[in-house]
Amino acid sequence: MVCLGNICRSPTAEGVLRVQLEQAGLSAQARVDSVGTGDSHVGQPPDSRAIACANKHGVDISMLRARRLTLEDFDAFDVLLCADRTILHDARIRKPRTSHAQVELLLDWAGLGKKDVPDPYYGSARDFEHAYKLIDNAAAEIVERVRQRRF
Ligand code: 4NP
Repeated sequence: MVCLGNICRSPTAEGVLRVQLEQAGLSAQARVDSVGTGDSHVGQPPDSRAIACANKHGVDISMLRARRLTLEDFDAFDVLLCADRTILHDARIRKPRTSHAQVELLLDWAGLGKKDVPDPYYGSARDFEHAYKLIDNAAAEIVERVRQRRF
């Protein structure tokens, strides 16, 4: 899961997908992680508003710490799912030629359309909630892809 700061959208996506995979009994089928394309929040926990929003939905992301996308990630992971089109562009530019990773838009890969998860960082609790719902819906579809090994 890839966003800009790795403190709002992608740690939420990491936490939500991990919980949904656990609930589906599929935890062993996929390793989930998250990163940011930027480095301004490296080492920090998720934004307190993202932690609160996820908590409200029974997902604890407070233990996660931000890290930046590395070249190794393109070999370590089969699929890099980007929160919005800017992130997608940045991630694709960095993808080494030797990597076979799929680098895609999160909602698109989940079959929900070529749409962004809007950045809630400069927004309100409602914006965090909106991003959460999009991510939660995407995670449900991703669980199905993992179940059917479509990745
Ligand atoms: P994220 O949100 O990419 O979903 O983690 C942001 C976090 C930090 C900033 C922008 C977006 N920032 O400009 O510092």
